[in-house]
Amino acid sequence: MAERATMSMHLYQISSRLLVDTVERMNDNLTSVVLAASVITLTLGYVSKLLLRQSADSGQKHPPYIPSSIPFLGHAISFGKSPIEFLEQAYDKYGPVFSFTMVGKTFTYLLGSEAAALMFNSKNEDLNAEDVYSRLTTPVFGKGVAYDVPNPIFLEQKKMLKTGLNIAHFKEHIKIIEAETIEYFQRWGDSGERNLFEALSELIILTASSCLHGKEIRSMLDERVAQLYADLDGGFSHAAWLLPGWLPLPSFRKRDKAHREIKNIFFKVIQKRRTSGEKVDDILQTLIDATYKNGRPLNDDEISGMLIGLLLAGQHTSSTTSAWMGFFMARDKDLQRRCYAEQKAVCGEDLPPLDFDQLKDLSLLERCLKETLRLRPPIMTMMRMARSPQTAAGYTIPVGHQVCVSPTVNHRLHDTWSERMEFNPDRYLSETLIGENKFAYVPFGAGRHRCIGENFAYVQIKTIWSTLLRMYEFDLVDGYFPSINYTTMIHTPHNPVIRYKRRTQ
Ligand code: HEM
Repeated sequence: MAERATMSMHLYQISSRLLVDTVERMNDNLTSVVLAASVITLTLGYVSKLLLRQSADSGQKHPPYIPSSIPFLGHAISFGKSPIEFLEQAYDKYGPVFSFTMVGKTFTYLLGSEAAALMFNSKNEDLNAEDVYSRLTTPVFGKGVAYDVPNPIFLEQKKMLKTGLNIAHFKEHIKIIEAETIEYFQRWGDSGERNLFEALSELIILTASSCLHGKEIRSMLDERVAQLYADLDGGFSHAAWLLPGWLPLPSFRKRDKAHREIKNIFFKVIQKRRTSGEKVDDILQTLIDATYKNGRPLNDDEISGMLIGLLLAGQHTSSTTSAWMGFFMARDKDLQRRCYAEQKAVCGEDLPPLDFDQLKDLSLLERCLKETLRLRPPIMTMMRMARSPQTAAGYTIPVGHQVCVSPTVNHRLHDTWSERMEFNPDRYLSETLIGENKFAYVPFGAGRHRCIGENFAYVQIKTIWSTLLRMYEFDLVDGYFPSINYTTMIHTPHNPVIRYKRRTQ
């Protein structure tokens, strides 16, 4: 799991260390072929970049460039070790817009709300998402969806998905998630020390499958299918991003086989739904009934691809966020007490099953989630390819630069946030981010590529944590608060073991 990530939007950490990890995993006799191919590909890319840069219009002022004495790899090692620190130091030295090279590619970061506006207000034809994401997403989701289609089509698909993510469905989801959580955590017993992140990752596959795929697909989710999801998810690797897709790597083969098998499972379920005439009110049905603006309904392949996308887009993002939230609450016992008291104050002393209106009123819990997403946004960088020259902070960003915005850095800039590194959910009672700080807080992105899963993620994570707070009291193990594991594309907690004890009242 460690080397995997959610959607391709989480793709930027191109450190040499990861390149080495990737190669190490190719422990069959293809290694030399792969190495040769990748060196050739990357070198060609690098040389063409250099040529491009040399031929750039010298009349324009390009963003400050962070020099590196290491040819080709550039800053990959220092960035890979500690990306946030790297970017913060560069911000202090060069300002909000700067460029640097890693593994032969030039990255231009737009830090701070004002600079980030360029990305969020841009047209997809100018700052393009497919160019950077599709080589990862298309083999996993399949053709005809997401970044495999022109963006106006993807926007229509997002609209269809959003129709399915509605309040009526959320009301049902809360019941499902509460029941799945209670059942899953039975195995934890009354007290102990366990890996919270692992548990939440397993739980969220179950809840997401129930809520986003429907009861038929959830009922088929056994160990074999879970393994298929894991193999498919393994497609979101640095290898898939860095190396040519035609290479016969074991992980690529596993990904492609898992893709075919999962699609076959989904095809059967969709066919059964279509022919049974049974109208179930869920997201699968929303997709079966949906049509594009021109009246064409989605075909089974598109529906299946969208179901895969839904599951994987929410999987690591929500499980990582939920795990970090648990550790923040375990570290601050007073906050945890307040959150538990809120459960009783809002829902009633006897803590009846959760419902949508109560969940909405759990405002302290909501602020805890919001603050977790500030300090640990799962998607550290959003990326686009500059297809036309772009202007930011008076600089011209040339065609071919990979333009990046980092929620993690924006969420902790010292000139925007007070007590920036403190986990303080109550800051939202007084701080409001508007106007020039509009993009200071962007855990779900903004603009045309904005997340459609935000409301579902809030429902899911708040339901899980309401249930867990009612069951257990949590503590750090000997005061250990997890450090951040930067080797994963999504920054997961390192050694995420938590101590828990069943509540007696
Ligand atoms: C805590 C949970 C989540 C976080 C923090 C998150 C974050 C994000 C971010 C930052 C983006 C923008 C990417 C970019 O601009 O490159 C995004 C896009 C997206 N997310 Fe999420 N997401 C979460 C959960 C979900 C869930 C549960 C779903 C589906 C049910 C989902 C579906 C999508 C989709 C379809 C896009 C659109 C991508 C595009 O238009 O290019 N996300 N998400």
